[in-house]
Amino acid sequence: MRKDLTMKIDLTGVTALVTGGSSGIGEAISVTLADSGAIVAVHYNTGGERARKMAEEFDNGSEAFGADLVDPDAARNLFVRAAESLGGIDLLVNNAGIFIPVQPDSGHGEWMKTWERTLAVNLTSAGVLCREAIEHFRGRGGRIVNIASRAAFRGETAEYLAYAASKGGMISLSRSIARSFGKEGIKSFAIAPGYVLTPMTEEYLDKHGDEMVANELALDEMTDADDVAPLVAFIASGRLDHATGCTIDINGGSYIH
Ligand SMILES: NC(=O)c1ccc[n+]([C@@H]2O[C@H](COP(=O)([O-])OP(=O)(O)OC[C@H]3O[C@@H](n4cnc5c(N)ncnc54)[C@H](OP(=O)(O)O)[C@@H]3O)[C@@H](O)[C@H]2O)c1
Repeated sequence: MRKDLTMKIDLTGVTALVTGGSSGIGEAISVTLADSGAIVAVHYNTGGERARKMAEEFDNGSEAFGADLVDPDAARNLFVRAAESLGGIDLLVNNAGIFIPVQPDSGHGEWMKTWERTLAVNLTSAGVLCREAIEHFRGRGGRIVNIASRAAFRGETAEYLAYAASKGGMISLSRSIARSFGKEGIKSFAIAPGYVLTPMTEEYLDKHGDEMVANELALDEMTDADDVAPLVAFIASGRLDHATGCTIDINGGSYIH
């Protein structure tokens, strides 16, 4: 029998945990998933007010959950709380991340502080959440989406060594999960955005100017969060399951590899 190839995305019955779900790319992902019918655990660190408002507006049983992901135990606890409260999780979106500059010549202590914080939020907590998700998905299946970065492949500038390394780690984490747990119904995907107009890049663009970023693009407009979010809904629908392990670039053609 042929597969159903209807392209309307209906995520009714899907429950998703989106880290960093109330700002930038995470906000667009949360809204897109909820608009498609999913119940969303909107995670936040400092953006509690916004996260609670979003969950309330979704009006479908979505909830906001706070956790500072610099602490791996908080990451673990986040998954447990969200799964308990929403009656299970079908999709984990590891989106929360930080992009902190530090020059390698700024002193060992300063450099280490940024390295450790970046790795803790961007990679260690993402790994902990993946592990919780794998345990939870065993026997019921599930999907993981890791929001990595073009930096994992192209590399970044000197002040973002930790950021690029954390995103490279995320790619191999994502691929290893896909290879190891596919037989248990667990699928894992990475998305590698280039510059996306969000609060994260505001400061960078203020400093370096839009033009520098725009000149890197093949397209004639900058990427915004709504250019990234639909892919997550598509993955959540299961239509991309046979691409498990893949990384999808969303970078306006700025880095094709
Ligand atoms: N924007 C880009 O150009 C770009 C490019 C490639 C990849 N990405 C990746 O896309 C993801 C989302 O970035 P964005 O551009 O949407 O940035 P953003 O608007 O700054 O959002 C970052 C999110 O991460 C959360 N977060 C930061 N520190 C945290 C911590 N200690 N504990 C828990 N959550 C924390 C924030 O939560 P609160 O707001 O609640 O504090 C926020 O929701 C990141 O992983 C980023 O690396 C972005």
